[in-house]
Amino acid sequence: MPDACILGIESSCDETAAAVVSSGERLLSNVVSSQIATHQPYGGVVPEIASREHLRAIVPVVRQALEQAGKTFDSLDAIAVTQGPGLAGALLVGISYAKALAFALDKPLITVNHLEGHIHAVLLEQRQKTAAERPGEKFQFEFPVLALVVSGGHTHLFLTQEQMNAENQATWRYQNIGRTRDDAAGEAFDKVAKLLGLGYPGGPVIDALSRYGNARAVKFGPAQIKHSNRGVARDQQTPFDFSFSGIKTAVLRYVELEGMRPAIAARQQALAKIAKPNAENIRPLCDQKTLDLVASFQYSVVEDLVAKTLEAADARNVRTLFVTGGVAANSELRARFEREAERAGLAVYFPSRKLSTDNAAMIAAAAYPKFMARDFADAEFSAEASLKL
Ligand code: KG4
Ligand code: ZN
Repeated sequence: MPDACILGIESSCDETAAAVVSSGERLLSNVVSSQIATHQPYGGVVPEIASREHLRAIVPVVRQALEQAGKTFDSLDAIAVTQGPGLAGALLVGISYAKALAFALDKPLITVNHLEGHIHAVLLEQRQKTAAERPGEKFQFEFPVLALVVSGGHTHLFLTQEQMNAENQATWRYQNIGRTRDDAAGEAFDKVAKLLGLGYPGGPVIDALSRYGNARAVKFGPAQIKHSNRGVARDQQTPFDFSFSGIKTAVLRYVELEGMRPAIAARQQALAKIAKPNAENIRPLCDQKTLDLVASFQYSVVEDLVAKTLEAADARNVRTLFVTGGVAANSELRARFEREAERAGLAVYFPSRKLSTDNAAMIAAAAYPKFMARDFADAEFSAEASLKL
């Protein structure tokens, strides 16, 4: 079978990304232009600014992706773009560009759900790794796969199956068996970091600072992290849903009770003077109480994510786990999943840290089965901010 060379474009949130992937398994280039520094002073992503920055970055980012891959526009087989979920204005930049490109080049256009992209990031890298380590062999894993997609906008458990269509082409099917009732896990990291004056985004900083804190110092009770089925009709009850807004409130209460406000204000002032603060700059500004608090927060969130995923795997007789999305970059989450999955006799796979957070390689990889099944988009589709998988 000849290689299918797909250009992926991703602009759903605050990264403008383009990548070229060959046949869903060979990463030829992966360019990500992050807007983090632009949004940092606001403590979160500002949608209007995000759209403007995407407009500025999209042309050079795509050019760079082609250049690094050693490809020309003409040598592409298809163009894939994120349709949603995400910020409508941000998505539209990628979509308009991809439509124009596909039209001008007369190439097929493929729409990809951002969440499906995160799942395929795992597959892309495992396939690539197997090809490098054992040429001629294919990455083997068992369906169904349980995929935990955990990021700044999402916390979902998808039960994933492969199905053959009428032309005997494999397509992927997803059943959502768990989701957050309120905040996404990454959002909780970001909000807690903001509350403690640790900057934005919160995940990487809390991950780095937690190494210096005692994760058992602050106890968060199950009620602060478990979703409640009280008042929910029996057939609507979902054992594998998540809830992370309670723990954020518990952190706020702890801050008030322990009188941490003045220290937070002093840290915010000190950080405002640093152009792009990172964990190295922030650690000396934290007392032990703060380090213990972030470590305890991270411990509780990770424990809940791991425990629920393993319970769901057990209930659905799953042997393979994919853990993906921005929060999958978290060191504690990776270590705990590896330990617990081994204990339960399950295989667990993560993307590299680079492909855990938003990128376009995952979009180009997820488009490959659709390319093979000739599942192409017409010119009429638009951005779907709340697109379901
Ligand atoms: O997948 P992603 O880049 O964008 C969304 O689709 O949301 O995820 C970004 C999220 C942010 O909330 C960020 O704080 C979190 O992923 N994140 C982390 C880590 N690195 C990024 N959370 C915990 N630990 C990390 N190391
Ligand atoms: Zn994402």
